[in-house]
Amino acid sequence: MDIDNHFLRACRRELVDVTPVWFMRQAGRYMPEYRAIREKYSLLEICYHPELAAEVTLQPIQTLGVDAAILFADILLPAIPLGVGLEFTKGEGPILQNPIFTMDDVRALNPVNVQTDLGYVMEAIRILRGALNGIPLIGFCGAPFTVASYLIEGGSSREFLKTKTMMYSDPHTWHALMEKLSSVLADYLVAQISAGAQAVQVFDSWVGALSPSDYEMFVLPYSQKVLQAAKTEGVSVIHFGTNTTTLLPLMKRAGGDVIGLDWRIPLDDGWALLGNDVAVQGNLDPVTLFAPLPELRARVHDVLRRANGRPGHIFNLGHGILQNTPVDHVKAVVDMVHEYSAVRA
Ligand code: CP3
Repeated sequence: MDIDNHFLRACRRELVDVTPVWFMRQAGRYMPEYRAIREKYSLLEICYHPELAAEVTLQPIQTLGVDAAILFADILLPAIPLGVGLEFTKGEGPILQNPIFTMDDVRALNPVNVQTDLGYVMEAIRILRGALNGIPLIGFCGAPFTVASYLIEGGSSREFLKTKTMMYSDPHTWHALMEKLSSVLADYLVAQISAGAQAVQVFDSWVGALSPSDYEMFVLPYSQKVLQAAKTEGVSVIHFGTNTTTLLPLMKRAGGDVIGLDWRIPLDDGWALLGNDVAVQGNLDPVTLFAPLPELRARVHDVLRRANGRPGHIFNLGHGILQNTPVDHVKAVVDMVHEYSAVRA
């Protein structure tokens, strides 16, 4: 069942009868079932209780009929045992109370034992593998750059001013931080795979803020370390970023069997930049889900036409589902993707 599933086959660029589809952030506030749980528990409480995390992970499987489950967790969970003081505040997103500015701050980060410090994540994976009935489970982590940006900025950012300033003015501290983060994140992914994750995605959501040369010098070796560690475990690895049109060849060099594309580049052009020896995931604009169904259908078909039935396309958005997205439109996209592939066959 594992090996023959069409999502896993597509990750390996094998032939499939139906294009697989799942969505980044497919569990979340746009779903009434999720909001019902969030009324009783905070985001971190859901993560800390493996049975709740498993329940939330399963919600989009039941409601949408997607072809893969993504573990419910957050890319910032490893920040908790590192000791930087993570909080999620209403409306403002994540806040880190002790951001990193200096080499002393990097040295003060706690050592992390992923099995004990993040054991609740591995427990959720084990519960899910028992509950998913053959639907593959995707584990994930943030890429070192994107996680570092939160640790340095103390939260979300537009310009990445502090992050890039550290790179340019204090590269020793930057490299020490990336060294530390990439070790923890590599261990974390390997632990998720050992617990049962059948594919993993590395989210470098904000790396598009960098020029190719900065990416190559300050990021690539560390992303490579994380992606390589997962690859060695024998599962398919998805490497995702946004705003990465000029970075795609370097991201491919860093690693990944599947590269995520956002909507800023047509899927066929992105695939051409990457070459035939890699699979692609994407790339519908999440805002398209707010459009009327005929317009949405035209745009879903455009993505599928550009993929042209080539082995190695996984349908997804170019970034996560937004709050207030109509659930019936998300479900309609799953059906559109499956029907389109069936007609083509
Ligand atoms: O369904 C899934 O995709 C699995 C769960 C998941 C969450 N976060 C839960 C979550 C995943 C894969 C993530 C990844 C994540 N977290 C990323 C990378 C993906 C991306 O969107 O670029 C990033 C940058 C984060 C950091 C993060 N977590 C931010 C910036 C926020 C606040 C923004 C917001 O939407 O409120 C979060 C909170 C968060 N993580 C929510 C969810 C469902 C929303 C929170 C809630 O219930 O309060």
